[in-house]
Amino acid sequence: MPSPAPPADRYPARAPAPAPELALAATVVDGLPGGAASVSRPILARQAARESAARTYARHLPIVPVRAQGAWITGADGRDYLDCLSGAGTLALGHNHPVVLSAIRAVLDSGAPLHVLDLATPVKDDFTSALLEVLPPELAADCRIHFAGPTGADAVEAAVKLARAATGRRGLFAFTGAYHGMTAGALALTGANAVREPAVAGDPFLTRLPFPHPYRCPFGLGGAVGEAASAAYVRTLIEDPQSGASLPAAVVVEPVQGEGGVVPAPDGWLRSLRSLTSEHGVPLIADEVQTGFGRTGALFGVDHAGVVPDVMVLSKAVGGGLPLAVVVYRASLDRWAEGAHTGTFRGNQLAMAAGAATIRHIVAEGLVRRASDLGDLLIGRLTRYQAHHALLGQVRGRGLMIGMEIVDAHAEPDASGALPAAPAAARRLRAELLSRGVIAELGGRHDAVLRLLPPLTLGDDEAEHLLAVLGRALDVVAEDRDAVREVARV
Ligand SMILES: Cc1ncc(COP(=O)(O)O)c(C=O)c1O
Repeated sequence: MPSPAPPADRYPARAPAPAPELALAATVVDGLPGGAASVSRPILARQAARESAARTYARHLPIVPVRAQGAWITGADGRDYLDCLSGAGTLALGHNHPVVLSAIRAVLDSGAPLHVLDLATPVKDDFTSALLEVLPPELAADCRIHFAGPTGADAVEAAVKLARAATGRRGLFAFTGAYHGMTAGALALTGANAVREPAVAGDPFLTRLPFPHPYRCPFGLGGAVGEAASAAYVRTLIEDPQSGASLPAAVVVEPVQGEGGVVPAPDGWLRSLRSLTSEHGVPLIADEVQTGFGRTGALFGVDHAGVVPDVMVLSKAVGGGLPLAVVVYRASLDRWAEGAHTGTFRGNQLAMAAGAATIRHIVAEGLVRRASDLGDLLIGRLTRYQAHHALLGQVRGRGLMIGMEIVDAHAEPDASGALPAAPAAARRLRAELLSRGVIAELGGRHDAVLRLLPPLTLGDDEAEHLLAVLGRALDVVAEDRDAVREVARV
């Protein structure tokens, strides 16, 4: 039976005119801080009604940003929020940094084209110069840059195609806990079963390897012994003629797993991966989408271990807050054909100008060192919180990429001493922080790791404010018996 025609008034032929509240939001906040909850509520309600069920941050952070400066966002509710998410690690210099804004304005005022596919422009030329100045010198000395579609996932896809074209091999090695993006190929490399399985994403030539984890060791061994076991296992797969795994086209690794729960690759382990891949002529792809440009307290995540990869995937901070993604690789690998990885939006001039300004400012202002020092301070102080807050199973990270593993302190530890994840307590912590004006997100196994990704420009007073708010929020969550007892074993 044919379905009845929808009533005309319910399904208008044209999109409705924007609601007046949308335009009102900024005005109300400008004039009336604190009194504008009535503006944000209907916008959030319309978002919930109109946008996809797959929306993410919007579900947990019900705020309507209307202005932002540095580490702060002002919501349409008139409240200020300390932004420790920074566009998922994109905004190295925080919101609306003057050097970024003036770089963007300079392009706009110059009359230059905003979009040029992958044609050469002075703006692009300047961006590639800025990038080459900061790349590991060994790579910069003889590399090629490929502009991908402007997302990390697309750049990961490009890197994998490149490695396959250059080696003529098909296999890929990727790690447990990995996150490389949401397009089919990048998702195949990603560990999270909850998103990979429904998408039926997979790669028949992929081998999954255990990433060393300082709290939840995949071998149940922990520490240096667990790391050594992981390194030995990779070597076995490559060298044992009966390993069942062919020599791969590439090994893909994050120097610090971000979405996987802020898990730094141990330096010695990363070095062993580098020497093994070099020995066997396997390109090492470092996914620096999140770790690049000072985030971890080194210019690149691989720098901590003194490792130079064959391929680096860069996005997020590389565009200064605007969409941009590039793959940088040794020139010897440049053996793919014209059009091997193309895409329309590879010429965003505003992103290139913002990215060049961001890169130069990070270096000129010593923000890499700043991220390292401030990260040490935050991690040190948060680690001391463990004495009073038993639900902090582990505090870890590098620079301003920090994770706090939230656990059930009353449960039985497993054989290696790890307590079960407490995802409800982690969700409660995120909500408590938000109610106190701090934006942070969750990640890791069972979404039980609270992640902090503040801008590299975070001030000392802002860091103190963050620590104070975290302390109070942890106190409140510890009192919530129901939240603390809902556990998930890994
Ligand atoms: C390490 C890493 N790789 C790839 C991606 C995917 O980037 P995008 O979301 O821009 O596709 C992300 C995103 O968070 C990431 O953290």
